[in-house]
Amino acid sequence: MDALNLESEIMIAPGSRRLAAAARVLALAAATFGVCALAVVAVFIFRRDALPFYVLSEQTYGRFWPHLPAMAAHILGASAALFLGPLQFWEGLRRARPALHRAVGYGYLTGVALGAASAFYMSFHLDLTRTVGFAVGLFCLAVCWTGTAGLSWWAIRGRNVALHRQLMAQNYALTLSFVVTRWLFDAPIAFIQDMGPMRYITMGWVGWVMPFALTGFYMQLRSSRRGGRV
Ligand code: HEM
Repeated sequence: MDALNLESEIMIAPGSRRLAAAARVLALAAATFGVCALAVVAVFIFRRDALPFYVLSEQTYGRFWPHLPAMAAHILGASAALFLGPLQFWEGLRRARPALHRAVGYGYLTGVALGAASAFYMSFHLDLTRTVGFAVGLFCLAVCWTGTAGLSWWAIRGRNVALHRQLMAQNYALTLSFVVTRWLFDAPIAFIQDMGPMRYITMGWVGWVMPFALTGFYMQLRSSRRGGRV
């Protein structure tokens, strides 16, 4: 019986190893494609919606002109977070240049602090004729953005690397909600476009709650598979 089991294990093992290797290659290819697609969409949306605010004029700022300092701080801080964030997930760089990882990390957190402080201000000064629900959504997003950044900093000060990594992943998912939300507003998906103006408030919430929750689930799953390491 034992000899039989051993024989079938020997026969099955190379096949299942090949299958597992193929699944890993497929997952890596899908992840690479996903990251590249997201990067292209992020650059496109940044150029279209954020870059114009680097010209300080009444024409480019429109309804935000009366709040110029807050809006300019928001764009500057949030842009820094958007572009510095990906560097923090580059394992090779973190291992080879830990001091650079720390410096970029402080740059990222400063960007989030600036972006979030101005976001709090703006969520109280929105044109509320647009909808209160939209403003409440942005306020809650700012709470989670600030909370995950602060806790992540506190976790690494206490040398809790696993918690730091999970919170940073969720924090960057919130930073990316700038891209996800705006993509959802214009997405060529019939049921979204059929919502009419209601899609701004609906997708305004979906665009940050879903990336935030899914990143949390993924990090927890990863951690339980690796026996507590994230
Ligand atoms: C993740 C946390 C963020 C929060 C809580 C937040 C909050 C806000 C708020 C309250 C407004 C005013 C909206 C209005 O009056 O309609 C706004 C506008 C804006 N934010 Fe953010 N923001 C965040 C992230 C970002 C990021 C990462 C960028 C990238 C640069 C960004 C760029 C902009 C731009 C360009 C506008 C004005 C134009 C527009 O609505 O498209 N924000 N944000």
